Amino acid sequence: MIRSENLRSGYIQDDVEEYLYELLPERDEVVSEIEDYAAQNRVPIIGPAVARMLTLFVQVSGAKRIFEMGSAIGYSTIWLARAAGPKAKVIYTDGDPEKARRAKDYFRRAGVAKRIDVRVGNAHDLLRKAPGKFDLIFNDVDKHQYPDSLRVALPKLRRGGLFITDNTLWSGKAARSAAPDDVQTRGIQEFNRLVYASKDLYPVLIPLRDGVTVCRKQ
Ligand SMILES: C[S@@+](CC[C@H](N)C(=O)[O-])C[C@H]1O[C@@H](n2cnc3c(N)ncnc32)[C@H](O)[C@@H]1O
Repeated sequence: MIRSENLRSGYIQDDVEEYLYELLPERDEVVSEIEDYAAQNRVPIIGPAVARMLTLFVQVSGAKRIFEMGSAIGYSTIWLARAAGPKAKVIYTDGDPEKARRAKDYFRRAGVAKRIDVRVGNAHDLLRKAPGKFDLIFNDVDKHQYPDSLRVALPKLRRGGLFITDNTLWSGKAARSAAPDDVQTRGIQEFNRLVYASKDLYPVLIPLRDGVTVCRKQ
């Protein structure tokens, strides 16, 4: 069963979406606890279906240097860190210190604290300042900032690296005309246009949950 309304896509038929989640194996104690906390406190998280897709992309690409923009209570960070293995470094970023405090506790209990570097502040500034390039950048900040996320991420991604962005269908609203003051939908629409127009990226928008765009840097 879908345990949280924030896991519903809003454009996939309910029975099909429930089927997709019913197929998934149970998660361990810490990950299940985060899912329950997120559902009860309305913290948006990627959920287990998208988390498994992230895991697959990390594993097939062999990504070890990973930067996450918008990590909240660390749900997606734990999946990234577990997928990348003990030699990896995953940079967690969020503007909310209280969420970072909770995330740190989960990282310790999930056994991945050593491979995660927790940074509190503006994710774009932190990425600009981070030394070197990354194998994979995961973008899940507030949606009006998505065009900026792209501009900041591109120079920080190595060639062949992956830039993955969540919520790119935005409950289907991305496909419809948006009101001038709907800055979140407009941000996503602009982002989707930009990635498909970029000569530096090879994007695919995958309609899983709320839409996930996976781009390879050429
Ligand atoms: C959708 S939640 C992230 C969920 C997380 N990726 C997961 O799936 O577990 C978005 C988070 O991004 C943070 N955020 C939004 N804009 C940000 C920015 N520019 N810099 C840092 N954090 C930001 C918010 O505080 C919020 O916790």
